[in-house]
Amino acid sequence: MAVERTLAILKPDCVRKNLQGEVIARIQKAGFKILGMKQVRLTKETAGAFYAVHKGRPFYDGLVEFMSSGSCMPIALQKENAIADFRMLIGATDPKDASEGTIRKLFADNKGENIVHGSDSPENGRIEVAFFFSERELV
Ligand code: RTP
Ligand code: MG
Repeated sequence: MAVERTLAILKPDCVRKNLQGEVIARIQKAGFKILGMKQVRLTKETAGAFYAVHKGRPFYDGLVEFMSSGSCMPIALQKENAIADFRMLIGATDPKDASEGTIRKLFADNKGENIVHGSDSPENGRIEVAFFFSERELV
């Protein structure tokens, strides 16, 4: 299997609930290598650019509002099969549909405020890691 990079973001609800450590521990136990990690407050413009693929969808404005509502933590991760394995670890978008034991099932309140982001393809993993990190910040 190919070694892939994926971008996780601990979303503002995760930070507000002080769950950063619990979520990072689960990510590490699942075998992901942390290449880079930071805490940022996204502006509406930056949050909108990051989720530009969803522009025009009914949930877009709420998503931008939520992602800019407090601090969040982008984390660059690397692992064999990282994209699929990370999405398995976090579970379905809506915690109601997420499998038992997944991060969203355990910690998320609803489909909009769902604790963590994960990239959806190897190409987007590389693009999204580069959105937040320069190569020299990845070690
Ligand atoms: P993410 O990109 O954050 O990892 O989430 P995802 O792939 O599981 O879901 P996606 O379809 O990419 O949606 C991005 C984020 O938009 C919010 N959303 N809300 N209320 C709604 O119907 C709705 N649908 C999507 C969620 O925060 C979702 O994670
Ligand atoms: Mg997505």
